[in-house]
Amino acid sequence: MEHERMMGYIRSLISYDHTVLKTLEADAAVRDDIQPFIEPELAKLLGLLIRLSRAERILELGSGIGYSTIWLGMAARAVGGMVTAIDNHERTSAEARRHIAEAGLSDVIELRQGDVQQILPELVQQRQQYDLIFQDCGKSTYNEVYEDVYALLRPQGLLFTDDTLLQFDPQTRKGLGVHVDRYDRRLFADSRYYTTMLPAGQGVCLSLKQGSEG
Ligand SMILES: C[S@@+](CC[C@H](N)C(=O)[O-])C[C@H]1O[C@@H](n2cnc3c(N)ncnc32)[C@H](O)[C@@H]1O
Repeated sequence: MEHERMMGYIRSLISYDHTVLKTLEADAAVRDDIQPFIEPELAKLLGLLIRLSRAERILELGSGIGYSTIWLGMAARAVGGMVTAIDNHERTSAEARRHIAEAGLSDVIELRQGDVQQILPELVQQRQQYDLIFQDCGKSTYNEVYEDVYALLRPQGLLFTDDTLLQFDPQTRKGLGVHVDRYDRRLFADSRYYTTMLPAGQGVCLSLKQGSEG
């Protein structure tokens, strides 16, 4: 099957949860100062999983200019939930805040500007728990915050990690690929999670935290 044509077909069928998302995609196509967004079919999968599991407490690591955050916010609104989104980049976060307001989601999304390596330990100390965590921040950071992410996910909660096949992208720096590969092997070997990976976008890992709530 011809992959590009197939992806074009899928994307022609996908409906967007908010018109702002289309505008952001159009902007991104002509900009070279922003990092890539999650692919719409994966964003839709996130929205579907949130609705299916009725995940009300959602944590996003790496919100960029707010594209994925708006998909998450629309899903959170549908289930009466809330999103906490974190990004360490000042200009990017300011743009995200504006886009979230344009989408009318400021009451559903709390955007925190700062480093996940600093904010996550604080959330752990506060004993915060999330039903779903979407991880899409710096790829070397995945290994750094691994245990904090585990602690913040409630038992039977879902971890959705993006870009887990980045090491196979010829455009990607080798060092980055090494971090991603180390992360994948660690996650798959971790029996505290029930994990699979899909070769969609740049790869995505889906992990269910095992165990029951105490
Ligand atoms: C791939 S982009 C996120 C794209 C976004 N999730 C989307 O799909 O629209 C990665 C983001 O992670 C942020 N980031 C990287 N390392 C971080 C860290 N240690 N703490 C917080 N944010 C970080 C970057 O500023 C960047 O905006």
